[in-house]
Amino acid sequence: MNHLISTSILNADFTNLQKVIEMINASEADWFHLDIMDGVFVPNISFGLPIIEQIKKHTKKPLDVHLMIVEPDKYIERFKEAGADILTVHYETCTHLHRTIQSIKSLGMKAGVALNPHTSIDLLEDIIQDIDMALVMTVNPGFGGQSFIQHSYDKISRLKKLMIEKQSKALIEVDGGVDLSNTRKLNDTGVDVMVVGSFIFRSTNPTDTIASLKKA
Ligand code: DX5
Ligand code: ZN
Repeated sequence: MNHLISTSILNADFTNLQKVIEMINASEADWFHLDIMDGVFVPNISFGLPIIEQIKKHTKKPLDVHLMIVEPDKYIERFKEAGADILTVHYETCTHLHRTIQSIKSLGMKAGVALNPHTSIDLLEDIIQDIDMALVMTVNPGFGGQSFIQHSYDKISRLKKLMIEKQSKALIEVDGGVDLSNTRKLNDTGVDVMVVGSFIFRSTNPTDTIASLKKA
C-alpha cells in the first residue's frame, strides 16, 4: 500500500490511444509512464515527442517520461515543452550527470536517474541528494513483457540504505516485469513507484487490474 502506479503504455493498443488515455484517467493509476527509445541506447524504437504532446492534452495525471536515448541533454527542453513532469535519464548515457540533473530541475521538472540491471547503486552515492527519483530497472531496458530480475530486491534494499545514510528524499521507482506476484514484496522492500505495462494491458479488465495493483 501507499505506492504509486505509473502505467507504461508501451504495449497498449496505439490504434486506440484515446481509449487507453481515458481508461488510465478514470483508473486509480497515479502517473503515465512514457518509454522513449532511440534504437541506439536500446535495441528498440518506440514513440517520441508528438505522442507525449497528444497525451498531455488529454490528461491531468503527471507524465513520467523515461528516456532510453543517448545524449539526452539535447532534448531536455523539448520534453519539457511536450509536457513531461518527471524526466528520467539513464546513468549509462550521461557523462555530466550532475549538469543534466540541474538542467532538468531548472526547467521545473522532477529529475530521475535510471540504472540498468548491471549498474551498481553505489554509483549514485554522489548524486542521490540531488535527484527526485532513482529508477531501478528490473529488466533490461528495451521491451515490455520481460521477466522480473530477482536480484533486484537486494539492489533496492542497498539503495534504500544509501538513501537513509545520505538523507535523500528521492523516490524509488522500479520498472519491468512488475505484476501482482511481486508488488507486495517490492512495497516491503521500500519501493515508492511501480511501473506496470503488460500486466495491465494483457488483462481482461485493465481498470480492475490497476485497482488490485494499488491495493497490493
Ligand atoms: C522497458 C520499459 C518499461 C516497460 C515495462 O524498457 O522501460 O517501462 O514498458 O513494461 P512491463 O510491465 O511489460 O515489463
Ligand atoms: Zn520505462
